[in-house]
Amino acid sequence: MKLKTFLMFGLSMSAIASPAAARECVQSPGKLLELCVSIEGGEARYEVKRGDTVVIAPSRLGLAFAGEADPRYAALGDVRRSASDTTWEQPWGEQRLIRDNHSELKVTLAGDTPLSKTVGVTFRLFDDGFGFRYDYGAIPAGQPVAVTADHSQFRTVGAWQAWWYEGLGQERDEYLYKQTDARRVTLAETPLTLKGDNGLYLSFHEAALVDFPSMLLEGDGAGTYNAWLMPWPDGTLAKKTGSFTTPWRTVLVGDSPAALADSRITLNLNEPNMLPDVGKWFKPGKYVGVWWEMHLEKSTWGSGPKHGATTANVKRYIDFAAKYGFNGVLVEGWNKGWDGDWIANGDKFSFTEAYPDFDLAAITRYGKSKGVGLIGHHETGGAIENYARQLDDALKLYADNGVAAIKTGYVRHSGTIVDGAGGLQWFAGQYAVRHHLDVVKRAAKHHIVIDTHEPVKDTGLRRTWPNWVSREGARGQEFNAWGNPTNPPEHMAILPFTRLLAGPMDFTPGIFDIARGGKELMRRVQSTLATQLAEYVVVYSPIQMAADLPENYEQRLDAFQFIRDVPADWETSKTLQGAIGDYVVVARQQRGKGDWYLGAITDEEARTLEQPLAFLPAGRRFEAQIYADGPGADYRTNPEALMIEKRNVTRSDTLTLSLAPGGGTAIRFRLLD
Ligand code: NOJ
Ligand code: CA
Repeated sequence: MKLKTFLMFGLSMSAIASPAAARECVQSPGKLLELCVSIEGGEARYEVKRGDTVVIAPSRLGLAFAGEADPRYAALGDVRRSASDTTWEQPWGEQRLIRDNHSELKVTLAGDTPLSKTVGVTFRLFDDGFGFRYDYGAIPAGQPVAVTADHSQFRTVGAWQAWWYEGLGQERDEYLYKQTDARRVTLAETPLTLKGDNGLYLSFHEAALVDFPSMLLEGDGAGTYNAWLMPWPDGTLAKKTGSFTTPWRTVLVGDSPAALADSRITLNLNEPNMLPDVGKWFKPGKYVGVWWEMHLEKSTWGSGPKHGATTANVKRYIDFAAKYGFNGVLVEGWNKGWDGDWIANGDKFSFTEAYPDFDLAAITRYGKSKGVGLIGHHETGGAIENYARQLDDALKLYADNGVAAIKTGYVRHSGTIVDGAGGLQWFAGQYAVRHHLDVVKRAAKHHIVIDTHEPVKDTGLRRTWPNWVSREGARGQEFNAWGNPTNPPEHMAILPFTRLLAGPMDFTPGIFDIARGGKELMRRVQSTLATQLAEYVVVYSPIQMAADLPENYEQRLDAFQFIRDVPADWETSKTLQGAIGDYVVVARQQRGKGDWYLGAITDEEARTLEQPLAFLPAGRRFEAQIYADGPGADYRTNPEALMIEKRNVTRSDTLTLSLAPGGGTAIRFRLLD
């Protein structure tokens, strides 16, 4: 039976149904959070407290539909309660065993419009947050409906800081975060993370975004955030047929930034694994690629004398990968369509025709002989229709040549994606949400995994579709090649508490040539070399790139050893310390081995952190291989100074981490006995 994969052990209490009172409440398993739902003045509302602290003041619930007035609700109908404490296993991940311990309250809202006559709302409370979703189960089969409003609200009280960027920007999610008074949030992407004067941290997001538009949050200037769904070209928010459930709207609640980072609510609110055999055809790993050289303009995606994706160049990367133990080589610019303005002409991309100097069969044969797989690339330029038309042939071509992973890309300004009817689409409306999951499902049939760039944000769907292994969806390393400005050091201390709460990121760490011959600071990587190593631990992804050029690694084999050693699959992960935008320390245990790894990153400030090693198991000794900022290291003036030190430690030791400005520390704890 698949019992082991889905439900390792646990207890589920069956639902207890009862007639509703005017107000119904539920507590999280450890009684940390309490949520109440009620009807007042014709509105359905929920509110949440943590002890005596108001987390969410009474906030509206429910959707509205075309052709109907906003529904008014008379009463709560049936109420069902249940509790569940189970543990399930991830085929790969930041943590192998995930505990799902929650209390559930299901209520029925009786609305006064035909489509909202019976609206189910399911609340799930965990000790570290909650989620709720709507169930429009009474809409007759086959009836098309158009959602015109999502009234879901999140009302905060008191003073909060927010880390955010404007939603609807043309570069999708590739923006630097700003930190402001949360009341200044206008329209923000999620995860939207808040820090309160009351000591609480919140992060608003969603889980299981399937066949629905992505939710942004619109601030009202007074601490209330209203759901704002990315619309279709005709203004409709969501188009559904018959009964449906919405994605979960989620709020993480913790008393430290680390509590947010270590929450597993997003995964727990997704459906179980649909690909139980995925472990047979996907293993987490590290890759190199014909990639950074194009971003540095040393070679080109397009054809011509500087073409990067030539058979000879790819073989060079394969040799390098094989020599140093990487199992993948990404190759971009292999297929026809890159010449000219490819962003404006995405419909010229062919996904089956290679440039003549790229021999797919010869390359994959060569890779196979060396134990290195090709990571395919489908840049669509946001021309989704052109890609979808070719998708089956494109997947078949790769599958026939033994390619088991594809990076997709959708470089096009959000709001200018042309759909089949000629309408202009946002990058994460229902149309794009449908497309991305369709690609993932079709790829799964070929045993191919997908790494999406310019994606719809992650909402934990990797639990259900574990061949959706990674995504970009933030300002990644690429901005350090050509960004103006490049990513400032604090970016790496913000991501773990914002974007990375959503799921894995293909950030592509590991640039060693930081100084780039004295390039000005704001146009190159703004970190130390030790930080580049620490990123492999701080940023989780089951596929991790070593992004720099082979020749740059061969000049620093001492530092490169860490990248060779660090795994991409973990038994467990813990965020040990952190302050949003200032610093972060993460420890992870290698899956299937007793080794631990630690990554620490600071912002532009130098910092000394005391780090107890109490996360290590009792009675074991480890050799700590420490890659720290060297004497005089500074991301501005001396970024490549690195100090490598080894010492034996146990869990009763405390390490002093000395982080340079823009610096970091990466440690491998090798289990000795
Ligand atoms: C943007 C992606 O994020 C980057 O990794 C890729 O190299 C370019 N698009 C070209 O596809
Ligand atoms: Ca990108």
